[in-house]
Amino acid sequence: MEPDSEYTGAIDRGLEGVVACSTAISAIHGSTLLYRGYTIEDLVEHSTFEEVAYLLWYGCLPRSDEFADFEARLRRHIALPPQSFGWFHGLPTRVHPMDFLHAVVAGLSLHDPDANVMDEAATRRKAVRLTARLGAIVAAYDRVRKGRWPLQRHRERSVAWNFLYMLRGQEPDPEHVRLFDRCLILHADHELNASAFSARVTASTLSGLYSSVLSAIGTLKGPLHGGANEQVIRMLLEIESPSRVDAYLDEQLAGKRKVMGFGHRVYKEGDPRARILREMSRALCLETGRPELFAISEKLEKRMESEKGLIPNVDFYSASVYYCMGIPADLFTPIFAASRVAGWCAHAIEQYDDNRIYRPRGRYVGPTDQRWAPADER
Ligand code: ACO
Repeated sequence: MEPDSEYTGAIDRGLEGVVACSTAISAIHGSTLLYRGYTIEDLVEHSTFEEVAYLLWYGCLPRSDEFADFEARLRRHIALPPQSFGWFHGLPTRVHPMDFLHAVVAGLSLHDPDANVMDEAATRRKAVRLTARLGAIVAAYDRVRKGRWPLQRHRERSVAWNFLYMLRGQEPDPEHVRLFDRCLILHADHELNASAFSARVTASTLSGLYSSVLSAIGTLKGPLHGGANEQVIRMLLEIESPSRVDAYLDEQLAGKRKVMGFGHRVYKEGDPRARILREMSRALCLETGRPELFAISEKLEKRMESEKGLIPNVDFYSASVYYCMGIPADLFTPIFAASRVAGWCAHAIEQYDDNRIYRPRGRYVGPTDQRWAPADER
């Protein structure tokens, strides 16, 4: 029997260049990133994570009255349901925080009366809860693993303020809050990246929003996607000094190993998020007495560009930014999730709005003439 001849043509490995949906949420034009038509630079300068979440979900910036209500709802829902504190102390805490996040989001879905309600209002209510809570789960995890009780959020404070407060147990420096908020904005969406695609594939089966977000968390975790930021800081710390960059890179490149935080499927001229994070990293590394981290990063960037033509992506400079803010390395990817959840929800909402199930084909290359035989005759 011959394989189906219709599917013997070229395959776009990794779906490179395949346009899988129409989207009005975000766009990459050269090295410009737009959320709903606004440049990322404009939003980072003037907006807040909460306002960006509204923009991604509703397609426009809110008027003051619309925003006051939305922001209040988002802030209210940072509070985790009381029963979740019990789970935290029952779940293993020597696991990767991305796995913990995945487990707790699945747990939250069991207690959400809207979990399997598919109308638009219910989906938007879930989007608010999920976006408000992912950061709270990450902060709670860090406290529980240190033998402390999770903290309650302050209702009047932002998602960024509350995350830093719930992580550290003290009121955060306003400058750090603004920086962290800018990081949340920068990571909130990115066209049809792997985790957004994953969220959309799940949404396309008409499974609920929790399922989409759970699929996306699993996809983001990998080191070729959001997991790269944690690997970047481990690399910078391992290199230790700018004088060791060349030896480190020689070894990695000779071994044909990937250098984390470099390269991008779409950007070839530069990732605008990395440009912004680079300046944040420069300032923070100096301010916190870790100038060598920035010097190592700059040297890596120069050599990767000249030798491999590869540019730093969002994960490269965000790693030193988070590190200099005192955030533990294994929380970097969960923090990415706590921001990107806004984009995942926007993609699921857009997918539900004009849905057709994703069901591509695979070209079969296995045998076609096998016959079953009893175990002792194989
Ligand atoms: N270090 C060394 N070489 C690299 C790197 C890298 N970081 N990235 C790409 N290359 C090389 C590949 O080895 C390949 O070389 P070859 O043609 O000689 O085999 C070539 O560049 C093309 O790379 P691909 O992996 O095919 O590119 P792709 O578009 O499939 O992957 C990706 C893009 C995943 C970002 C890749 O560049 C990579 O693995 N980077 C490191 C991990 C990383 O930083 N991920 C975060 C991406 S941003 C985000 O998801 C938030």
